[in-house]
Amino acid sequence: MLLTGKELLLDAQKNKYAVGAFNVNNMEIIQAIIDAAEELNSPVILQASQGGIKYAGIEYIANLGKLAGRNAKVPVALHLDHGTDFDQVMLCIRHGFTSVMIDGSIFPLEENIAITKKVVDIAHAVGVTVEAELGKIGGTEDHITVSEKDATFTDPLEAKRFVEETGVDYLAIAVGTAHGVYKGEPKLDYDRIKAIREVVDIPLVLHGSSGVPAESLQKAISLGISKINIDTDIRNAFAGAVKEFVMNNPDEIDPRKILGPATKAMKEIIKEKMEIFGSAGRA
Ligand code: 13P
Repeated sequence: MLLTGKELLLDAQKNKYAVGAFNVNNMEIIQAIIDAAEELNSPVILQASQGGIKYAGIEYIANLGKLAGRNAKVPVALHLDHGTDFDQVMLCIRHGFTSVMIDGSIFPLEENIAITKKVVDIAHAVGVTVEAELGKIGGTEDHITVSEKDATFTDPLEAKRFVEETGVDYLAIAVGTAHGVYKGEPKLDYDRIKAIREVVDIPLVLHGSSGVPAESLQKAISLGISKINIDTDIRNAFAGAVKEFVMNNPDEIDPRKILGPATKAMKEIIKEKMEIFGSAGRA
């Protein structure tokens, strides 16, 4: 069933688990995610970035996501990841996304509040729920790159004001993770998550969660994280399986045979994440 992000995340917040939000670009990734969720009886968020939408086309990605969500035996939300552009967010709402992210984190606080509030007012009027970002998460997610020196952690008092003034439904916070592949082991600022949780009562979101050890993620969940974004780990599983298959079967030309093992590998890593997040069995 297709629900809003808020419906999934409020249950996660109440019951102290996190819903995995997995990035999608094509049919195979969506199938892997839905299969994993149904097998483990887990709620799940399908999220498309602006780059993913550009690659697949809004019609394809929205319709694949809606079809998968409506037919699924588990709660599914279809979410726009890192919408940096007002028009892009509106386009996704028009195409039936049930959840959108407006990422105004590159702007000064006042401007981030203004654009987020504008999106929240419109989205709420048509029953769509909204994620925003405060602080700057480092690394590269598709076309958005934030260098290490520009990454800034979320300030708890700013977070309180931001949530009060925008009416946003869930908030992405910068607490030490980064998008993409890590060079060393990421260090999460747990005290900051706790401090934000104490002054903000909506679900909190962790981006850049690939490559973060399971124990760190579980500690973050225990402190108030309710949505965990994963992209790079799925890409790694996909690419590894395709490379291995092609090396072992250099004469194979059937895309179904080449992509079959990749879909399976993506499904396995997604199931692993759902167990770590505690969302398995929560549908
Ligand atoms: P990773 O690629 O590090 O998993 O980050 C994904 C993400 O946060 C998408 O918004």
